[in-house]
Order: sequence, then C-alpha cells, then structure tokens
Amino acid sequence: MDKLVIQGGRPLTGRITVGGSKNTALPLMAASLLADGPSTIHNIPVLQDVFTFSNVIRVTGARVTYSPDDDPSTPESMVIDASDVHFPEAPYELVKKMRASFYMLGALLGRCGKAKVSLPGGCAWGPRPVDLHIKGIEALGAEVREEAGYVIAEAPAGGLPGGRFTMEPSSVGATVNILLAAVTANGESVIENAAAEPDVVVFGNMLQAMGAKIDGLGTSTLTIQGVETLNPVEFSNCPDRIELGTYMIAAALATPAGETFRIDSTNADHLGDDFRQRFAETGVPVTYGDGFVEVEGVDAIQPVDIVTAPYPGFPTDLQAQWTVMMSQAEGPSTVRDTVYTDRFKHVPELRRLGAQLRVDGDTVHVNGKPNQTLSGAIVMSTDLRASVSLVLAGMVAEGRTDVLRVYHLDRGYEKLEHKLQRAGIEIERESYDENHPEG
Ligand code: EPZ
Repeated sequence: MDKLVIQGGRPLTGRITVGGSKNTALPLMAASLLADGPSTIHNIPVLQDVFTFSNVIRVTGARVTYSPDDDPSTPESMVIDASDVHFPEAPYELVKKMRASFYMLGALLGRCGKAKVSLPGGCAWGPRPVDLHIKGIEALGAEVREEAGYVIAEAPAGGLPGGRFTMEPSSVGATVNILLAAVTANGESVIENAAAEPDVVVFGNMLQAMGAKIDGLGTSTLTIQGVETLNPVEFSNCPDRIELGTYMIAAALATPAGETFRIDSTNADHLGDDFRQRFAETGVPVTYGDGFVEVEGVDAIQPVDIVTAPYPGFPTDLQAQWTVMMSQAEGPSTVRDTVYTDRFKHVPELRRLGAQLRVDGDTVHVNGKPNQTLSGAIVMSTDLRASVSLVLAGMVAEGRTDVLRVYHLDRGYEKLEHKLQRAGIEIERESYDENHPEG
C-alpha cells in the first residue's frame, strides 16, 4: 500500500500543468465503441480509472492501445478499435472497481442492441443510484431487467425507437448513458433536465464528430435524431477542470504573498461561473489567460460560503478542497453540498490535522484562522477528492503528514507528487504496512 509523506510549510512556486479530464475521458472512451473501426483520443490522463475502463472495454472484443510514458507533462493518446465488438457484457469484477463502467450499458445497447452490465458497487459516501440511467434507457424503448446483480437491456427487433425522458435530479452519468444509446436509435429522442457539465458537452461534441445529430448540448434539453451508423474519429479530450480548481486552491494556500503561481493547459470556462465568482470573493488575485491561469499568493484569504450545484454551479468535486482553503481563511464560513449531501468523509480526517469543522446535515461549518493552525498527523484517504484535500492540508500543516491509501488519489490525479515536487513541495510516495502505518 502507498502513502504520501508531506513536510508542511514549503511554498508552492513556479508552475504546474493540468492533465486531461478524467470525467470526460471515460465517456469519450465509451463513445468509441459506437463506431465500427479505430478511434483515436488525445490527452487521455494516465490514471487508474483509465486503465480499469480500458480493461472493461477489452472484454467486449474491442482493442485498446494505450502505452503512456512516465512523463506527466506529455499528453497521451489512446486508440480504441471497435471493429470487433462481439461480447456485449461488462463483468462485476471490473465494474465494481469503477462506477463509470456503467456507461457500457448505453454504449453496448447503442452498438449491439443489447447489453449485460453489472450494477456498480457502492461508493465511499453513500448510495450512488443508477435508477435514472435505467429509466432513461427504458424511455428509449429498451426492455430492461435486473438479474443477479446485472442489468440486462435489449432493443426491440427493429432497433430502439427513441423516446422522451425527463430526469430529476440532473445526472451527468445518466445523461451520458442515455446519449450513448439514443444516437443510433431509429427516431428522435429528447432528454429534459439533462446535465450541462463540460464533460457532457465535450462528449457530445465527439459524438457529433462521429456523425451523431444532437441539439442543445450545454443546455438542459437535448434533442437527438438517431442515425444508422457512426464513424470512427480522431478527437482531443479537454483539460481536467477539477484538477485546475484544486491547483488554484493550492496556490491560495501555499504560494507566498505577492508571488505568482502559473497553472498551464487549462480551460477555465469549464470551472463554471459560481466557482470563479466565489474564488474572486476570497480576495486571491487570479488572471485567466488563454490556456493558463495565474494565481497570486496573499497574506489573508477572505471567508466565502459556498453551495454546490450542477454546472454552472460550484462543483461538488471541489467542496473538500474548498473546505481546506476556508480552514485558513480570516473568519468562519460554511460549505454546503446539495449534490451529495453526505460527502464529508474527509472532515474527520481534516480534524485530526487540527481543522475546526462541524458537520450539520449537508453543511460543514468551518472556523477560520487564527483558531485552527493545522499540525501534521497520519490521515486516511476515503475517496478521490477527500484524499487530495488531505494533501492540501498537509502542505500547510506544521510538521509531517502521512496520507494513507493514496490508491484513491491515483484514480484522479496523475503523478500528483511529482507535479507538486517540481513546484517546491516536499512530498514523497512511500509504501507502508497497513498494520504499521507510522513505519
Ligand atoms: C459524475 O458522477 C462524476 N463522475 C462525479 O465525479 C461527480 O461528483 C458527479 O458527476 C456530479 O458532478 C464521473 O463523471 C465519472 P450524477 P455521476 O449522476 O454521473 C443522483 C469524481 O470525484 N442520481 O451527476 O455518478 C445522485 O445521487 C467523481 O471525479 C440519481 O438519483 O453523478 C446525485 O445526487 C465523484 N439517480 C446526483 O444525481 C441516478 O441514476 C448527481 O449525480 C444517477 C444519479
């Protein structure tokens, strides 16, 4: 098992590069299954979730070629040759590792007219239902049944007729899954209250490049005219907006006052208006350039309350990181998650570092400085974004912080310790024995 060992108090200086978006790469990979031939996708991040999903896709008979080098600053490309997709199934032993494998339901139904996909496992912070995915696929005219932990979907003999579906709440995953099946249906489909996240828009742009007919991307109403076939395509993934937001928060926490920290390979529009507005209210100066963001270090961070919401609202994937930033602010604040009302597994771990946090329902109440100087400790990662919030806290805590079970972190941040080392942070990866984590 690996841990990250951080000596706090080092300044974050120079620059850092954002990798390809994890939450966009996975739908792009699924989309390539819809075409009878090889698609090439550029800027695929080197992450555990990408390797896991590659293995899920290989089960169908598609061939995935992806051999990244060790340098995190060079974008990687992947070729998925879906010429021979003959086994429309996604097995439990792989799907349980990563929820997004459930996209195979829409992809295999769209390509083969049938699919047998394991229901995804649970998640660190409570139930992650897929009822909207299933209801949406049924609304397109598929017959869906559950059997022994698997979802089995079949299109009628003449193919999916298409249909209308209104989802509540808006779901990124369900929007992706329904689009994957709708683009090759026989008729028109309409999805109301669809997700407008950049992940969905860029994914929809790839489908359009393959020949799909989709109107309304980026709005809450998607109208799809089904087409007979889709063509293989060469397409580029977008930068990771959550990685960008994470590094902006890191700079606010650890870049010395007056110094500028540069974040390269970015698309700041993908952060959404609310995050950018809230970040401006903290008083941390930000320059949004063409493909880069510059953050200036400050002596004082102003407290700013946030409430997460679907895009363009404040991303739920940045609320744990924001909580760390607010722990260093000049006064109290609140962090409320309305998307996942119980996504607070990081709070007890942050409290081990001295953060004064109180969870009340879907809200964390944060005391600011001077009441909560953080001091190093051994802490446990519980999920992807919780783990990176512990790294951020370790960067500003006095002394040594060991962040255990960084396999959670490796799912969504490519070689984070290497990137932070190059920006001045004293952080090392070490293996350890779960029974003796202090070793
Ligand atoms: C995607 O998950 C992301 N994952 C998550 O990022 C992100 O937190 C989430 O969207 C919200 O932005 C990927 O893209 C791989 P949802 P997803 O379906 O699609 C409810 C990370 O850290 N819901 O948009 O699973 C659900 O309970 C991960 O990178 C249903 O009720 O999220 C939630 O309250 C974590 N029924 C809301 O919708 C369903 O069938 C939004 O979830 C599906 C969802």
